Amino acid sequence: MQLGPEKVTTKKENEYILRSIGPDNVEEFLNFMRQVSADTHFMSRYSDEVGSDEYEVLAEKARLKTLYEDSRQGMISVFDGDRIIGNVAIRTAGKGRKTNHRCSIGIGIRKEYTGQGLGSILMDHAIEFAKSVGYEIMELGVLSDNTPARSMYEKMGFTEWGCLPDAFHLDEGDSLDEITMYKEL
Ligand SMILES: CC(C)(COP(=O)(O)OP(=O)(O)OC[C@H]1O[C@@H](n2cnc3c(N)ncnc32)[C@H](O)[C@@H]1OP(=O)(O)O)[C@@H](O)C(=O)NCCC(=O)NCCS
Repeated sequence: MQLGPEKVTTKKENEYILRSIGPDNVEEFLNFMRQVSADTHFMSRYSDEVGSDEYEVLAEKARLKTLYEDSRQGMISVFDGDRIIGNVAIRTAGKGRKTNHRCSIGIGIRKEYTGQGLGSILMDHAIEFAKSVGYEIMELGVLSDNTPARSMYEKMGFTEWGCLPDAFHLDEGDSLDEITMYKEL
């Protein structure tokens, strides 16, 4: 996906740039993912697992290239200067014709930038993009204790359809359930 750049203005009147990212942005992206993964336990990896060695960095770069070059998938980021402060990933949920009407998403905002509408702005762009390339269903998974994200998804019209018990094991010993949600586009 190749999208933007576009200026976005938040509820607090802050202005940022929104655009898709590709392999050239791998360092900014990993830096962003490390922080969001350290800010909360809601992301799928621990911070020290994100781009942890040279092989992982190369693998992430290859993933970004694939998404950038695919007209139905991509990463949309919000930049404050050179820094990625928020990102939403849109990926095809299935590989073949039977399931290629479904996409999945993952989203994160750096903690100090939350609460000013950036999550909603990224979700709106992801939904518009997904519709424009023919997806009919958007899917996601969210941890049961992630109140901000669950509230945002409900507000955006997502419906809960399942729960995977014991989906996440935290280092501290806690076990967390994952709620699965979908939205018809
Ligand atoms: C979830 C997340 C993306 C929301 O981003 P955001 O920029 O703060 O969201 P917005 O400001 O657009 O708020 C959208 C809605 O989310 C909900 N929300 C946001 N923060 C909330 C909070 N602290 N408590 C409860 N609801 C909250 C509200 O419904 C809000 O709507 P409102 O402003 O009309 O009340 C952000 O908190 C985040 O990145 N968290 C860490 C990573 C994460 O959890 N990712 C999702 C994994 S499934």
